[in-house]
Amino acid sequence: MSTDINYSEKIPNNVNLAEDRTLQRALEHWQPGFISWWKDMGPEGSLDYDVYLRTAVSVEPNGWAQFGHVKMPDYRWGIFLTPGQPDAKIGFGEHKGEPVWQEVPGEHRANLRRIIVTQGDTEPASVEQQRHLGLTCPSLYDLRNLFQVNVEEGRHLWAMVYLLHRHFGRDGREEAEALLTRRSGDSDNPRILGAFNEKTPDWLSLFMFTYFTDRDGKYQLCALAESGFEPLARTTKFMLTEEAHHMFVGESGVSRVIQRTCQVMNELKTDEPAKVRAAGAIDLPTIQRYLNFHYSVTIDLFGADQSSNAATFYTSGLKGRFEETRRSDDHVLKSETYRLLNIIDGRLVEHEAPMLNALNEVLRDDYIKDSVGGVERWNKVIDKAGVAFRLKVPHKAFHRKIGTLSEFRVSPDGRVISETEWTANVTGWLPTAEDRAFVASLMGRVVEPGKFANWIAPPAVGVNRQPLNFEYVRFN
Ligand SMILES: [Fe+2]
Ligand SMILES: [Fe+2]
Repeated sequence: MSTDINYSEKIPNNVNLAEDRTLQRALEHWQPGFISWWKDMGPEGSLDYDVYLRTAVSVEPNGWAQFGHVKMPDYRWGIFLTPGQPDAKIGFGEHKGEPVWQEVPGEHRANLRRIIVTQGDTEPASVEQQRHLGLTCPSLYDLRNLFQVNVEEGRHLWAMVYLLHRHFGRDGREEAEALLTRRSGDSDNPRILGAFNEKTPDWLSLFMFTYFTDRDGKYQLCALAESGFEPLARTTKFMLTEEAHHMFVGESGVSRVIQRTCQVMNELKTDEPAKVRAAGAIDLPTIQRYLNFHYSVTIDLFGADQSSNAATFYTSGLKGRFEETRRSDDHVLKSETYRLLNIIDGRLVEHEAPMLNALNEVLRDDYIKDSVGGVERWNKVIDKAGVAFRLKVPHKAFHRKIGTLSEFRVSPDGRVISETEWTANVTGWLPTAEDRAFVASLMGRVVEPGKFANWIAPPAVGVNRQPLNFEYVRFN
């Protein structure tokens, strides 16, 4: 198997698709449905735009990207797997030490299919959530980054559909069709996971989403990259190289919003939200409320704190932990415990639970450690501007909808509170309709090369060393 991608075929791939005619035909049959989904649900009004996109040419960790102007419906979506390791062994669970599986073991078929479908469903969902944002872009640079994220989420869908077609027969083909028919936010046929049915109505939401929610994607993919089912491990490894860019868009996006806000605060010598807003920037307390919302909705994606499914997925060798191989325990975890939070008599208390049942919480806690890092980097931007304000991730029990903690009201600083106290304070903790209307009011459309909307600072550098006034998107 080569690391180079064959672009001479209808479906670019590095899996020798031409040698499996049945599979090739099945995927070529799915392809028009994908393109028509993209035309209906992809970025609005964008079909004729020439977009400066990067395309994968090889699956080597470095140097896989090629840049050029492309019409998005002509983007070379395809099937790219990181090369396998010869003699790879399953790293955890009851099959630990056995050779990795190239085919789906019969007894794990239903669970594996569910894992792949759940991951696959998030990919088109986020494209649907973001489809109107191009109409209110703050610059050509940002518009291009949005489109890059969108085409790569489309490719992630291809990655999961390949696994379904190649390894799950007729059920797999049916699931692949269903991935094109569910719609984010649709009441009859919604996407599978809650956060992927929320709206992404403005660019502050987009940056928060790509920082927090794409990072959930990273942690899920890292756990699947450990899988004993090697085709899944190899495909998710390559998806992770693309995911890194999505999180960059989020982290740098929020950072630039903050930078601009602090600049306005310093110019006006004020920390009053109303004055900051009057000057057309987003006040820091509003940014904090958006952060609280996206963070809490995203940590729900890891699932219930105690889950027998999570234990089964691990023990069967289907889904590992983040950086499984770097951990020094026995990778079976039958005698390990993990500390979980519960609320007893109105107080948060820790208790020990079998680690196997707590693996959703283990992954959530790894995620939390990582997300806090970027928030600290945002605080450095605020410090550097000499502004006295700190952004904070809320307590993990705040605003939860899934698991034990969802049964209680908890403030962002981790106090268990009454419904009355919640109602009296929630407008200070989560974005209000008025906050959202204000942010929406700033969303004009800036498409002159090198110009940026008033509410966001320009980035430090352009894409692929191009200047900031480069024509990242050409409208036709
Ligand atoms: Fe993705
Ligand atoms: Fe992503």
